[in-house]
Amino acid sequence: MTDQSKAVPRHVAIVMDGNGRWAKKRFLPRFFGHKQGVDALVRIVQACIDRNIEHLTVFAFSSENWKRPSDEVSGLMGLVLAAVSRYLARMGAMGVRIRIVGDRDAVSDKLRNAWNEAESSTLHNSKLTLNVAFNYGGRWDIVQAARAALVAGVKPEELTEAKLSEFMAMSYAPDPDLFIRTGGEVRISNFLLWQSAYSEFVFSDCLWPDFGEAQLDAAIAAFRERDRRFGGVKTDTALEA
Ligand code: FPP
Repeated sequence: MTDQSKAVPRHVAIVMDGNGRWAKKRFLPRFFGHKQGVDALVRIVQACIDRNIEHLTVFAFSSENWKRPSDEVSGLMGLVLAAVSRYLARMGAMGVRIRIVGDRDAVSDKLRNAWNEAESSTLHNSKLTLNVAFNYGGRWDIVQAARAALVAGVKPEELTEAKLSEFMAMSYAPDPDLFIRTGGEVRISNFLLWQSAYSEFVFSDCLWPDFGEAQLDAAIAAFRERDRRFGGVKTDTALEA
């Protein structure tokens, strides 16, 4: 049996929830929570590198987040643009490869260009891949994969789980081992529906701007306690005897 006690998740996915409440508790506009959220993300990227995690996927803007008040939506877009110009060089120096997952059609040309630059300038980095889910939804991903398979001429009898996986937005990455949601809510909210079929879930009450190395280590420790069977049975000879 493999020793899970030292196992490091290869791929960690995070729903960074609680920015608005973090700000509200301090009588600040919600935007300040998102701003602190960017700093928390930079800390966690470094922490993942230090722990030899290969992929970090974060839910930065969901397909449903367009429903928020327009000033919050434009504030988030502006914040992301500012974050790219402020942190891109640093991410590059840290060896981070940035990849964007989501529907780029609906974002502004300015943001699309910033994403393209973030991806192309970090293309050759390999310490950690930071997958930024932006204008992303798990259902969107399944539908776009199905459409792409049809366009590629895949026949109904050829459409297996493995085949459809080839068309999913993150087909280049292993499925997430550890799925963390901060902010106290216990739901997936349309994040990585396909890819999280066998992820271990950790729900933390910590609001995202307060999430740091200690909370990440607590989540990894919880992950190590889990008995991952992927739908199979435990092949422990002591139990079989
Ligand atoms: C959820 O908190 C958080 C978001 C919708 C935005 C998360 C985005 C970032 C941290 C910025 C990412 C930036 C880059 C460059 C990738 P909430 O607003 O739903 O909080 P609440 O539940 O307390 O209201």
